[in-house]
Amino acid sequence: MNDRTRDASGSNLPPSTTSHSAPRVQARDALRGGVEWRELVPDERPVELEIGSGKGLFLQTAATETPSHFFVGLELAAKFANRAAQRLHKHGISNAIVLRADAKRFLQESVPDAAVVGVHVYFPDPWWRNKHKKRRVLTEQTLEDIVRVLVPGGCFHFWTDVLDYYEHVCGMVMDHTRLEGPHYVPQRAAEHTMDYTTHFERRARLHDQPVYRALFVKPR
Ligand SMILES: C[S@@+](CC[C@H](N)C(=O)[O-])C[C@H]1O[C@@H](n2cnc3c(N)ncnc32)[C@H](O)[C@@H]1O
Repeated sequence: MNDRTRDASGSNLPPSTTSHSAPRVQARDALRGGVEWRELVPDERPVELEIGSGKGLFLQTAATETPSHFFVGLELAAKFANRAAQRLHKHGISNAIVLRADAKRFLQESVPDAAVVGVHVYFPDPWWRNKHKKRRVLTEQTLEDIVRVLVPGGCFHFWTDVLDYYEHVCGMVMDHTRLEGPHYVPQRAAEHTMDYTTHFERRARLHDQPVYRALFVKPR
């Protein structure tokens, strides 16, 4: 079995079963490298990349709504990466995978130039304290890599509920990259209880907190 025919979750391992529980899958572990991009994604389909997939709601919805695209989610925490993998497996989704990976390193080391039509970063951890800010996933280096991996005309989607972080990232993008934007992204009315882009968007909106959304485009 190669990577393209592997389970929809991108699992390295066959589902394990016990007599009392549903089959469980695990996200493929790319934390220590060793994952080849060209084995991961089908050649013929546009690819979209999500950084910090959490429990995988975006991957599930986007892959279902856009079957002609292939989605790759990167999630650092094993617990969430596995939950996202389980979600994709449960819904029989074959055009999305989730990897357990440090997105900063994976972008730098494993994603070729002009390989993706979209990069999505939703509600990244803000790391409030100054001494922890180096843990933020959106750094100047990551933004440089995002520009590099996007095709001309490709989109960078960034949403957060933290105004300071929104302004900081928009400032970095405008000062240090050639992406065009931020373009305004209107809020969509939810039509059912899970009709949100991600779990964190759902949580913010159910608590009446504002969500700041930006769309940037790489010039052609
Ligand atoms: C606040 S949660 C948001 C999850 C999801 N995007 C949402 O909106 O519901 C941020 C996620 O980013 C993940 N994360 C943090 N640093 C990361 C990194 N360097 N690479 C990949 N994922 C990362 C965290 O483990 C966490 O699941």
